[in-house]
Amino acid sequence: MVRRFVFGNPIETEAVLEKPKAAQVYADKTDTANANVKGEDKAVVESGVSIPHLAWDGEALSLRMDEEDIVYGLGENVRGINKRGWIYVSNCSDIGDHHEDTHSLYGAHNFLLIDGKETFGLFIDTPAKVTFDVGYTKYDELRITVEDSAFELYVIEAAAGDVIGTLANVMYSGRDAGCEREEKAAGDDRGVRVELSGQEISIPEQIVREFRGLIGRSYIPPKWAFGVGQSRWSYPTAQDVREVARQYHEHHIPLDMIYLDIDYMERCKDFTIDREAFPDFEELVEELKKQGVRLIPIIDAGVKIEKGYDVYEEGIERGYFCKDADGKEFVVGVWPGRCHLPDMLDDEARRWFGHKYKTLLDMGIEGFWNDMNEPALFYSEKRLAELFDKLPQYKGKNMGVDDFFEFQRMAFGLSNHPEDYRSFYHNYRGQRVRHDKVHNLFGYYMTRAAAEAFEELEPEKRILLFSRASYIGMHRYGGVWTGDNESWWSHLLMNLKMMPALNMCGFLYAGADIGGFGSDCTRDLLLRWLALGIFLPLLRNHSALGSRKQEPYAFGDTEDFRGILALRCRLLPYLYSEFMKAALTDGMYARPLGFVWSEDPIARRVEDQLLIGESVMIAPVYEQNAAGRMVYLPEEMKLVRFRGAQIAEETVLSAGHHYVEIPLDEVVLFIRKGHILPLAQGGECVADVDWDELELVHFAERGARYELYDDEGESRNVELDDGIQWICL
Ligand code: NOJ
Repeated sequence: MVRRFVFGNPIETEAVLEKPKAAQVYADKTDTANANVKGEDKAVVESGVSIPHLAWDGEALSLRMDEEDIVYGLGENVRGINKRGWIYVSNCSDIGDHHEDTHSLYGAHNFLLIDGKETFGLFIDTPAKVTFDVGYTKYDELRITVEDSAFELYVIEAAAGDVIGTLANVMYSGRDAGCEREEKAAGDDRGVRVELSGQEISIPEQIVREFRGLIGRSYIPPKWAFGVGQSRWSYPTAQDVREVARQYHEHHIPLDMIYLDIDYMERCKDFTIDREAFPDFEELVEELKKQGVRLIPIIDAGVKIEKGYDVYEEGIERGYFCKDADGKEFVVGVWPGRCHLPDMLDDEARRWFGHKYKTLLDMGIEGFWNDMNEPALFYSEKRLAELFDKLPQYKGKNMGVDDFFEFQRMAFGLSNHPEDYRSFYHNYRGQRVRHDKVHNLFGYYMTRAAAEAFEELEPEKRILLFSRASYIGMHRYGGVWTGDNESWWSHLLMNLKMMPALNMCGFLYAGADIGGFGSDCTRDLLLRWLALGIFLPLLRNHSALGSRKQEPYAFGDTEDFRGILALRCRLLPYLYSEFMKAALTDGMYARPLGFVWSEDPIARRVEDQLLIGESVMIAPVYEQNAAGRMVYLPEEMKLVRFRGAQIAEETVLSAGHHYVEIPLDEVVLFIRKGHILPLAQGGECVADVDWDELELVHFAERGARYELYDDEGESRNVELDDGIQWICL
């Protein structure tokens, strides 16, 4: 059940597709009388839904939390799966520091789920800054403050009376079958009539599904995008790119994508190619595709100011760039130097920018990553000028503490300055809107620009697309990667913790830079990180300029890497199936244990294990030099150990805590009771994987079944019942 409340006159985000009629509209932030709220113990609205202790005091929404309440959600953020005990600020930020005390990363994902005596979801829909104080100031209080206090609030509850629900029946036509199958799948038993039902769905998961139904189907990438991606800032020449492919192939390490960072462009200009470094770009694309490898170029938000550069000239001529207070094109510094920002919020400008991707589509490109779209501002012209004006004052000066800190603030404060975000404007829905009021929409609308153009330009084909900045709603247009993390063990764990929260907000195709972006990676860190990464949809090894080389072959012996990435290929039928079922039923791909064992107090607190799809639980090692780790099993499960890509052990473990040894060259997963894990034979890229020759690893009785989803992986027109095949023991 979804209730919508409108506070003031919020700016539309287009996150929610079909809005339910508002249960209550508050004229402005002083309108508390109308809210029937007179104190903490009153519901926001007394009609129907009662969320005890949720109150609106004219400044903030507040909620008294029970000791046992868990707060899930908030998408891309630091800290735990349970968000209690910190302040999170939804404010898309170009931020290299992903520390425990960071408040905002690149995404703004205002959905949270409170799970306790009462379990419900809250979505705060506004493009402006939102602060979530989740028990930081007062341990038992959740306090949500919205800049300008104009927003829409969605309160989402599970249907009344349901303790445990089931997935809505999804019927597949086909013939009835005896369902006989001995440890392997064959084409014959597929296409039988089944229901994707009977699976138990906990209240938290029902609420997520309700929410996701509201915001629309998640983006679905092409099947090949579930393969292995290798990236680096940068592979600056065609020769470097060829060398990456050669090394991978020579070592028989699976590979599906090589990413191109800013250096493929001519002096960082969007939609251009540096023909000196990539003289035969089109041939390179073609040549690699023949080897099963796609090239995925980056696109940045800023457009270089340069006479004769067509994107710049056209943007100026048609008035498509963001303007300053005087109506002149706003100037910011990014990679190419002085740039303008296309007004992604303006319908016409967005269409224009999106169609620019055609230049690369025409060269055979089938996927993109959108970067710097918070948008990142290295500097504004005005701020830079101010800095230069002040610099002479410091020359030759004996800088003491005050001078030094002021100087430092000035220099470091040049980038992403809040004042700069208040000094340019958009044409949004026919109105001139100051950027900070709609800040969290910029990356979303840039990605939307591309996706909408792809629908026109490539109506039959899925194009890979993901973005750094995002807001809920963007999940319909593309995936996300989680930006500039570090080669730190703590960031491996952070990657795990973020996944379910991103899924709740609709971002299913998601992942972090595996091995870490900044800092120097080590062989063991990369192996351990891959042991998590092979279970996540977006599997990409990416690293920063100046950091140690991070390709698997850069660490000497490649056997372990070959094994672990070959396992990814073996897992693909299952992973793709689980991803697609999640996307097509508004479900989750990566779930916290508390979403399944919501009554188990220990499972509810597990912060370092995940469920991947319906059958598998993972518990990766995230500490250097650890020989293994403690794992919590909420119920009896089967441990499956892989050495390389081959099964080395299958052992049933009882419910409870276990210490599990996991050497560096092994991956351990756990199969839930009554469940099946279909495994392919292997391959060196997605196209190699044979979806028909499956080995069924299981912890189930004869007759148990697994609903395998598959399709040809390219078409946009996908429906669940077209792709489900029933395989059983
Ligand atoms: C910032 C991105 O987060 C990173 O992945 C990329 O390598 C650099 N920009 C350079 O384009």
